[in-house]
Amino acid sequence: MRPSAPAALGPLLLLGLLLLPGEATQKPTPCQGCRELVDKFNQGMVDTAKKNFGGGNTAWEEKSLSKYEFSEVRLLEIVEGLCGSSDFECNRLVEEHEELLEAWWLRLKKEHPDLFEWFCVKTLKVCCSPGTYGPDCRACQGGAARPCSGNGRCSGDGSREGDGTCQCHPGYRGALCTDCVDGYFSALRNATHSVCTACNESCKTCSGPTNRDCAQCEVGWAEEDGACVDVDECAAETPPCGPQQYCENVGGSFNCEECDPTCVGCTGKGPGRCKECIPGYTKESGQCADVDECARPEKACARTGENCYNTPGSYVCVCPEGFEETEDACVPAQPAGGEVAEEATEEVTEEDAVRPPTREDL
Ligand SMILES: *[C@@H]1O[C@H](CO)[C@@H](O)[C@H](O)[C@H]1NC(C)=O
Ligand SMILES: *[C@@H]1O[C@H](CO)[C@@H](O)[C@H](O)[C@H]1NC(C)=O
Repeated sequence: MRPSAPAALGPLLLLGLLLLPGEATQKPTPCQGCRELVDKFNQGMVDTAKKNFGGGNTAWEEKSLSKYEFSEVRLLEIVEGLCGSSDFECNRLVEEHEELLEAWWLRLKKEHPDLFEWFCVKTLKVCCSPGTYGPDCRACQGGAARPCSGNGRCSGDGSREGDGTCQCHPGYRGALCTDCVDGYFSALRNATHSVCTACNESCKTCSGPTNRDCAQCEVGWAEEDGACVDVDECAAETPPCGPQQYCENVGGSFNCEECDPTCVGCTGKGPGRCKECIPGYTKESGQCADVDECARPEKACARTGENCYNTPGSYVCVCPEGFEETEDACVPAQPAGGEVAEEATEEVTEEDAVRPPTREDL
């Protein structure tokens, strides 16, 4: 690296910076690129300081340390760690501006300790100082010291772009972000400061923090004794939810929730809040519970010898294995007879098929 005249190089480098971006949409603006580089450089200074101040305190070490502090060796270390190997944009910037960075490091650092200010604002002229914007770095709306009254973002702040107008934070409006939008009230206002605070949730507009300070109630709230109180939509004459739903009142609104699947209509969550039960279920200690049809004294299954199995909401009747159903009883299966038996014979041998049923089968 050779020291060189930064002032002469500046315009050329600026040209390079301005021409290159715009090729790809995701490329950082020249100011962003410069700012990132400076951030990394500053981090590199922190890292190398840590690395070399860990040791002892002998006079020799102190002397060599202070030599290192401003040395080209340290600069090289910082520059080498500046960019990831795959960070093309960063590497390009460093290569392009290595001589400027060296000049600052060796000669100009004392006079211009703020690298961002010297490099990005004064030398490359791709950024502006904080609180200023645009090609000529003019002061933002509300002044460079506290743009937008501290309640908004100045368009182009710190860059050579934008128009200096304010984009206000939530709750604020006006050219200088000093006024409050609806739903906020002015909690503090003097010549320089303005603080807007959110109204109570029950107010659409207000002059203070509680539900008694509303100028207008929010939707779902109604005025009662000088305060805005929640409307219980669920208590309305015509219920707002469907027949298989229950209504849940919440501040300013309501929710319709599905009844438990065992309910026919309900007043709340779960099988304990059913109005009535679906078929196959009955109220048992207040809950809709499955009826065990098989346990009833009167037989659920009509055929003689039939097994009863309870199912949720119903039951099934099945003949035991090896039996088949007739109209009124389960009878031992006949291997050669009936539709089912015929299908089964397809896989048995001819010998088996012609064999008559034995007594043991019964
Ligand atoms: C305005 O209010 C802010 C915040 O409370 C305070 O810091 C500031 O000194 C006040 N300015 C004036 C001019 O009263
Ligand atoms: C709204 O005001 C009421 C009454 O003053 C209060 O109980 C409630 O917590 C307030 N709600 C909010 C979100 O501040």
